[in-house]
Amino acid sequence: MTQELSKIEQVVDKHEANKSALIQMLLEIQRENRWLPKPALMWISQRLGVPINQIYQIATFYKAFSLIPQGRHSISVCMGTACHVRGSPRLLDRVVDALNIRPGETSPDQKFTLSTVNCLGCCALGPVVVVDGEYYSSPSAKEFEETITTLD
Ligand code: FES
Repeated sequence: MTQELSKIEQVVDKHEANKSALIQMLLEIQRENRWLPKPALMWISQRLGVPINQIYQIATFYKAFSLIPQGRHSISVCMGTACHVRGSPRLLDRVVDALNIRPGETSPDQKFTLSTVNCLGCCALGPVVVVDGEYYSSPSAKEFEETITTLD
């Protein structure tokens, strides 16, 4: 058993392989790995006796889960209407230039994952970019680069 599957086994054991804790188990694995690897889902399917397609339905339904590897740092640019009017397309261009990846992509070194979102509920700050949960109001290219260079 690989180290990753060993950790997954611990998560399943912690919940006593209880099917009703499936989402909680997936959340814990997501938090640990930043995504849900296929072998992990197959393992859980076997251990819990839950069909793999049912697990995939859950994993694709909730936005908290990812079926592809995610970077260590999450960056989201708001493309909601208010932010759009206030210049989010230009902000997104600055972010794309700085990270050298497009929305939906993860950098080859697994450092950053870039996404776009539709309204973060702080429209007055728009256009907004969120870096690891911290909100930045219309940062210049220089300010954004300074922010991401402080991340490991
Ligand atoms: S539209 Fe961007 S925070 Fe609301």
